[in-house]
Amino acid sequence: MDLLRTKPIARIKADGAAEGGLRRDLGLIDLVGFGVGIVIGTGIFTLTGIQAKVNAGPGIAVSFVVAGVVSLFAALCYAELASAVPTAGSAYTYAYATIGEVFAWIIGWDLLLEFGLGAAVVSRSWSGYLADLFGLPPSLFTEEAPVNVGAIAIILVLGLVAAFGIRESARVTNGLVLVKVGISVFVVIVGAFFVTRSNLVPFIPESVPAAAGGSALDRPLIETVLGGAPSHYGMAGILTAAAVVFFAYTGFEAVANLGEESKRPERDMPRALIGTLLACTLLYVLVSLVLTGMVKYTDIDESAPLSKAFEFVGAGWAGDLVAVAAVAGLTSVILVELVTMGRIGYAMGRDGLIPPAVARVSPKHGTPVRFTVLVVIVCALLGGFVPIEKLSEMVSIGALFAFLLVSLAVPVLRRTKPDLKRPFRVPFSPVIPILSGLACVALMTNLAIATWLRFLVWFLLGLAIYLLYGRRHSVLAREAAAEKE
Ligand code: ALA
Repeated sequence: MDLLRTKPIARIKADGAAEGGLRRDLGLIDLVGFGVGIVIGTGIFTLTGIQAKVNAGPGIAVSFVVAGVVSLFAALCYAELASAVPTAGSAYTYAYATIGEVFAWIIGWDLLLEFGLGAAVVSRSWSGYLADLFGLPPSLFTEEAPVNVGAIAIILVLGLVAAFGIRESARVTNGLVLVKVGISVFVVIVGAFFVTRSNLVPFIPESVPAAAGGSALDRPLIETVLGGAPSHYGMAGILTAAAVVFFAYTGFEAVANLGEESKRPERDMPRALIGTLLACTLLYVLVSLVLTGMVKYTDIDESAPLSKAFEFVGAGWAGDLVAVAAVAGLTSVILVELVTMGRIGYAMGRDGLIPPAVARVSPKHGTPVRFTVLVVIVCALLGGFVPIEKLSEMVSIGALFAFLLVSLAVPVLRRTKPDLKRPFRVPFSPVIPILSGLACVALMTNLAIATWLRFLVWFLLGLAIYLLYGRRHSVLAREAAAEKE
């Protein structure tokens, strides 16, 4: 039963307030900047175009609504937990307080996967956009490069910023976010003038069978389970695209990791989480409509869909602006992902589930420097050597799994801790949390079987590490042992 021991909420709050922790100096604007900084990235700049072309047609806007609703449900659940239990560990700590240590470890391990692979994916697409903008050699900067030096370089540079201090990171991020959002809005407004209505018809193209060939492992799990023939477009295509573009929403929950650095978490956490998500959903739907309205979905360019769309309609100058926005925007995504991993590692180290010496906060910089350096090295290697498509679905499945557990944690905590002060409450609980959990599972089943298998391997590896190390070294385990003596 020691696997299911839980960490008392009062203890979580005391840990957060203890000396030598993270600095509490972020306001609402910083939190939203951080959220938008991590959310808008490769998903909208690259995956939208690919999925519109391959699976959804103009209906990609519907896919974004579906993925946005799933994320919004999860955001409501995060908001309740993040306002009641502000902590650096986010979902990891909520699980620790509710369903037990082994689940907490699994979720922390899962979040490291989500953010680590997320940073690696985005570093590769950053490198590709940079090459596009400055005409750099594809053999060093794109998916065809055996070693992507651009991806490695950007991760190392931003890793230094992340290790240096959250205030600095927040400042850099806020600046980059303004550029990214400003130019994205500009794209929607200018792009609207180039929309040809006939491109948007049929809005949801009729389903067509997929070409023969291709590995069975690359098919969505649900299609194989239900025995359907592989296909593109139609409603099934919209759902497959929703599961893939879900990647575009991943990261908003990183705001919840800033619970110990927020000046007024009770008030600001729900606002920042839900605000971030609503702003991004609106922008994504509009960008999807503009993109598929400018170019027939069958003609969309797969490597730089947005900038090429402007070239296509004879407004190459706007295309260049999009490329600049992409480079700036992707920079902030990578930075925030790296900073967030530091926070998660710090929370896990504090609980003794990873060696505290690795995860402690440097007194000089106020950040977990050693842990950050470690994950930066791993991310740089992944970004340098592993192709995007292998990494991005793993990010989606990792995030959906975390959302599932967070959704479950809300009703569990309401039952086990009915008196806990909850500045924000999910409306209609437990209906919304249950719907949220079911929606996460539904989207997960639309991901490829290969993704499920890779996720299982990561999961089992994590479990083995917990059983061999964390189970015995956790602070709660050591305290229980001391009490017995
Ligand atoms: N949501 C982030 C992106 O789209 C990870 O790049």
